[in-house]
Amino acid sequence: MKSRTQRLDRFISRHSVYSLADTRLLLAQKRILVDGLVARSIQQKVTQFTHVVLDGECLQDNQPVYIMLNKPRGVVSATKDPKHTTVLDLIEHPQKDELHIVGRLDFNTTGLLLLTNDGSWSRKISSPESGLVKTYEVTLAGPLSDDYIAVFREGIYFGYENITTKPANLEILSDYSARLSLIEGKYHQVKRMFGFFQNEVLALHRVSVGNISLEGLEVGCSRLLTIGESLRE
Ligand code: URA
Repeated sequence: MKSRTQRLDRFISRHSVYSLADTRLLLAQKRILVDGLVARSIQQKVTQFTHVVLDGECLQDNQPVYIMLNKPRGVVSATKDPKHTTVLDLIEHPQKDELHIVGRLDFNTTGLLLLTNDGSWSRKISSPESGLVKTYEVTLAGPLSDDYIAVFREGIYFGYENITTKPANLEILSDYSARLSLIEGKYHQVKRMFGFFQNEVLALHRVSVGNISLEGLEVGCSRLLTIGESLRE
């Protein structure tokens, strides 16, 4: 579900018997409540999640939903798939058919996957401008060296998109494992960055996105984000 923003007067005229012109009077008579408060302007912006009440009757009461899943290997980051289990198959929620995925993980990548029906939230989470750090644990086929750290910090040129990756932080944990923090999410980005060194990624696991961390969530399980997790970033 994409976020739709519209003016209060247009919203009222679309969802009630009143015309656009009538809304000024409704406002003056304090008959409109927006998120529990008397509306102050007909130009006020409402989204699909704003709670709007006219003469005591609720015109709209959609709930934004924010879910995190600990994605197992071999599950598709899609809402439908004819052959494989999808991440949506692992979620139990009455509004699950409204959800979309925020930053897909590959078939064999495991870890933190976010789903929501709030398009403006997912755009914010995905945008590099928000500077939100996505952290991955990576296991590699070949040994790592300190050279990787500087190259990942400088950025790697991706010819297909004609872009250079934004500075990324690599922490080497052992000869064959590392923790990588990125602020963007290009297609197969982690595998392609290690591909620069012809080093194959054997296992990839996303541990956190901003302040949202997988800790304590079993593989294949999901839960709603807390208010703090969904609003802080
Ligand atoms: N980068 C990848 O290469 N794959 C993922 O699943 C996520 C990030």
